[in-house]
Amino acid sequence: MTGDLSPIDKAKYAAARRAADMVQDGMRVGLGTGSTAAWMVRRLGERVQDEGLRIKGVPTSTRTAQLARELGIEVVSLDQAGWLDLTIDGADEFDGDLNLIKGGGGAHLQEKIVATASDQMIVIADAGKEVETLGAFPLPVEVIPFGWQTTRTLIQEALDTMDVLGTSATLRMNGEAPFVTDEGNHILDLRLQRIGNPRQTALVLNQVPGVVENGLFIDICDKVVIGHGDGRVELRDINDGTFELDQLVDGGENLFSDLAD
Ligand code: A5P
Repeated sequence: MTGDLSPIDKAKYAAARRAADMVQDGMRVGLGTGSTAAWMVRRLGERVQDEGLRIKGVPTSTRTAQLARELGIEVVSLDQAGWLDLTIDGADEFDGDLNLIKGGGGAHLQEKIVATASDQMIVIADAGKEVETLGAFPLPVEVIPFGWQTTRTLIQEALDTMDVLGTSATLRMNGEAPFVTDEGNHILDLRLQRIGNPRQTALVLNQVPGVVENGLFIDICDKVVIGHGDGRVELRDINDGTFELDQLVDGGENLFSDLAD
């Protein structure tokens, strides 16, 4: 029950709920991956059941697809949907320009394709995800398994010319074996500490043979919904420069009062 939720989880829930309530009947919606996005998918599932909301959801991972189906959300592929009205997803870091680091959950390849195929991307996050400069969170880079150590060497050589503070790159593991993405690839986590020029870094990384996609999202996100543990949510829109602050309440009750895990 909600009493067991940490302040960060309450913040994630508040952001997720605010964004899920922006979804309108008939929309085609990209469904992100991660703990914050899972709250958003649960809220959409509630709206489908309670309000009869009709949406088509395009999941960004097998995990999200399974959750959405369990909740009664109609799931379609990106190619079936064609183009999306909106994608809502979490992030590992965001800066003042709403550039992002994503892929902490290993799903950034599908996440980037889906978000790019959307009229609008809304990021949902707790306030701790906001940074002045990207890079404290290790940057995930999806690489094909063939020759991944050579790819890592080439990445590190490319990083030598970049405005970053570190070049360590470790293969993400899942127990004793390398982590495998939904597309059958591996992930290198780059500990750059500070990414001075995210746009250039993103472009250069994707030039390295063997790299499938990096976790920098540049000029893709339109809005961020930032949640706080007391139910406050901030909504920032990078396109029109607006800022709103709301306090979420649920029928006058504590927002978290009947929240089951
Ligand atoms: C998944 O690959 C990621 O991009 C997630 O969106 C990101 O790691 C945020 O996850 P949480 O919402 O669990 O913090």
